[in-house]
Formats: sequence, structure tokens, C-alpha cells
Amino acid sequence: MVDLINLVQTLTSPHPLDRYLELIRPTLTVRDMRAEITHVRRSAPGSVTLTLRPTRQWKGHVAGQYVQIGVVIDGVRHMRCYSPVNPEGGLDRHIQLTVKAHPDGLVSQYLYRHAAAGMVVDLTPADGVFRLPEPRPERVLLISGGSGITPVLSMLRTLAAEDHPGEVVFLHYAKSPAVLPHRAELDAIARRHRNFRIELRYPHRIENVAPRVDPDAPWVDLAPAKGGGYFDYDELERVAPWFADAQTYVCGPQSLMDAVRTIYQAEQLEDRLHTEEFTIALAPADAGEAHGTVNFSASGVSARNDGATLLEQAESAGLSPEYGCRMGICFSCTAVRRSGCTRNLRTGETDSDPDQPIQLCINAPVGDVEVDI
Ligand SMILES: Cc1cc2nc3c(=O)[nH]c(=O)nc-3n(C[C@H](O)[C@H](O)[C@H](O)COP(=O)(O)OP(=O)(O)OC[C@H]3O[C@@H](n4cnc5c(N)ncnc54)[C@H](O)[C@@H]3O)c2cc1C
Ligand code: FES
Repeated sequence: MVDLINLVQTLTSPHPLDRYLELIRPTLTVRDMRAEITHVRRSAPGSVTLTLRPTRQWKGHVAGQYVQIGVVIDGVRHMRCYSPVNPEGGLDRHIQLTVKAHPDGLVSQYLYRHAAAGMVVDLTPADGVFRLPEPRPERVLLISGGSGITPVLSMLRTLAAEDHPGEVVFLHYAKSPAVLPHRAELDAIARRHRNFRIELRYPHRIENVAPRVDPDAPWVDLAPAKGGGYFDYDELERVAPWFADAQTYVCGPQSLMDAVRTIYQAEQLEDRLHTEEFTIALAPADAGEAHGTVNFSASGVSARNDGATLLEQAESAGLSPEYGCRMGICFSCTAVRRSGCTRNLRTGETDSDPDQPIQLCINAPVGDVEVDI
């Protein structure tokens, strides 16, 4: 079969076979994986849940992993990472993504406003080391905040679908009950599985506005915040006194991640803590390295090196390199550094070997650099 596809590819050269097949139907591709949006739900303000039917190349995901989807906006394809919220191993081969619309976000706003059944997007295989292990840990603590709910919700739904016999706690921080997606499913899981506890916290609401029950809410508030605020040691002990014996999975904003990490480090439990971030704060540019010129040779554009990442400097210079995660995990932004030295802002290491692929989003130039974009 592979030989036959290769033969047809040769005959259809210079264009790959998929370029012809997509003219017939966008999801008829042989090599490129795509997905058709089959259902769109805007059940919580500020986010949209998409159900996608992938093409036959899709091999499924492990709960906690992410996929990249590619959307063409104004003729330019943009890739972004999203973590499926559906349980792993479902038989219907569908993926469910919940996308939070960022105020200035290009792709998330586009999907929030324009996603509709029938739309076809590019899709990459599921990836990522943040995943529910086999065999399942007996006790599982899931902690999330805001849009970080998605990978841990997939874990929760997977454990629920498997009727996991051990203790499971899901502790989630949201701005208010109204913006919490998948609330009805959380409610149903808590009702059906007596060994699962769903703990919802609304620290902003407690601090800023008087708690109020929304009369239009279609759910029963199973676990309203009981004087709880932000995550701390007392909260951890309250919801999961057995946390030292559990495996803990956390995804959320930086402040939540830092609070959890600090406690697990103090307790020397780092090996039981598994984390995923949607954004990272990179080390600030070193002023001593922000000199010289960055030459984007393929575009014939040069700019004064201001010390920011090569991705940011390219964007400031009016270029639009491809990117996905902007944090060094998806490799969408990889380009060849022809010459010069760059510093990896995640590891702090420098490298100056010529003609090396580097990730633009986490590398900053040290003096003169030439990149092939
Ligand atoms: C592993 C992983 C899983 C994820 N899963 C989910 C998920 O399930 N649900 C979800 O909602 N999100 C998820 N995300 C986040 C998602 O990938 C996108 O980052 C998010 O949707 C915003 O994309 P956007 O195109 O709307 O925003 P963008 O237009 O990319 O902007 C987002 C932010 O990037 C920065 N930025 C953008 N352009 C520039 C520029 N020119 N210069 C400097 N800074 C800039 C800004 O800070 C901006 O606020 C995940 C991310 C990762 C890494
Ligand atoms: S954008 Fe994902 S690695 Fe750079």
C-alpha cells in the first residue's frame, strides 16, 4: 500500500497527491491528517467546545496529551495546541476540544466566532508526556485552573469511564460557575462515582463579589466554594489528605502551578507531581547579549537585535513565522540558524554551531545571528 502511494505521489509530482485529493474533498487526504468539525457548542461564555471527526490516520490520544490543529485565517495557516477533553480510548474516534477565547488571541477568537459544523482543520497526532499512566495509580489528585481544565478533565473522564476503584479528587479553580465549561458532566461524574470528589473553587468571586446563585444555571451546585480561596497547604490537606500517596496532575495558570510546586517541593514529593502549562514565563533577555543584527535571510529582512526571542523579533520585523505553543514543546517554529550564537531561554545554554535547527520561540540571539526564515 505504501509503495502504491509512493508511486502515485511520483506520478502526480510536482504536487503531492493530497493537493489533488483535497480538491475533491478536504478530508480525503492520504498522508496529511485532517479533522472535520461535526458539532460546535458554546455552553459557557468565553469558550467553545468543538467535536471533530479525524481522518483515518488518527491513532487516538492518551488522557492529558495535546494535539495541534491548523486553521487558515486570511490565507495563512496557523497551528495551535489543544488538549482533548474527551476520555481516551473512546470507540467513536471523535475528539472534543474546548477552546477559551483569549481577548487578543488570533486562533482562539477565530474558532470561538466562526467554528461551524463542516469546517475542516489540519490535525497532528496526539503528543506530550503529561498523560495518565498505565497501570492507573490507585489514588489520583487532579488540579486545574481556568482553561487548564482540559487535559485533567480528559483524565477524570477516562478514570470515570473505566470505573476506577481508587480515590479520585478533581480540584478546579474558575472565575465563576457561569464560565466553567463541562459543568453538567462534572456534576454527573460526582453523582455516579462515590469515590470521586469534585471540588470547585471561585476565588475571584469570593474576593470581589458577593457569592450569588445563578437562577438560570442548568445544574445543581454540588460543591460550592466553602470559604476557600486560592490553593494552599490547608486546602490540599482538606481535599486530599492522602496526597503524599497519590499521583498529582496539575494544569493551570502560573500562580496555581507555583503554589502547588512549592508545597510538593517542601514535602519532597516532586516525583509524584506532573504538570502541564499552556504558557511559560521565559527568563528575561540579558541586556549584555542584545546587540548586533538579526538577519532573517530567506526574507531579506534585518533588524537590530533587541534581545527578545527570535520569534518575537521576527514578528516585530513584520514576518509571520509559523508557531504553535510559543514555549518550546511543539517544534512548529523550528528554523535553521545559519550563523551566530543563540541562547535557549529555557535551559540557559548557548549554541553557535552553524546550520542547526532551532526553536525560534525559546531562543534569543546573542549578538549577530542569521536565521533562514
Ligand atoms: C500543550 C498545550 C495545550 C493547550 N491546550 C489548550 C486547550 O485545551 N484549550 C485552550 O483554550 N488552550 C489551550 N492551549 C493554548 C492554545 O494553544 C493557544 O495558545 C491559545 O488558544 C491562544 O491562541 P491564540 O491564537 O488565540 O492566541 P495568539 O494570537 O497566539 O496569542 C496568545 C498570546 O500569545 C502572545 N502573542 C501572540 N502574538 C504575539 C506577538 N506577535 N508578539 C508577542 N506575543 C504574542 C500574547 O501574549 C497573546 O496573548 C494549549 C497550549 C499548550 C501549549
Ligand atoms: S511554537 Fe512550539 S516550539 Fe516554538
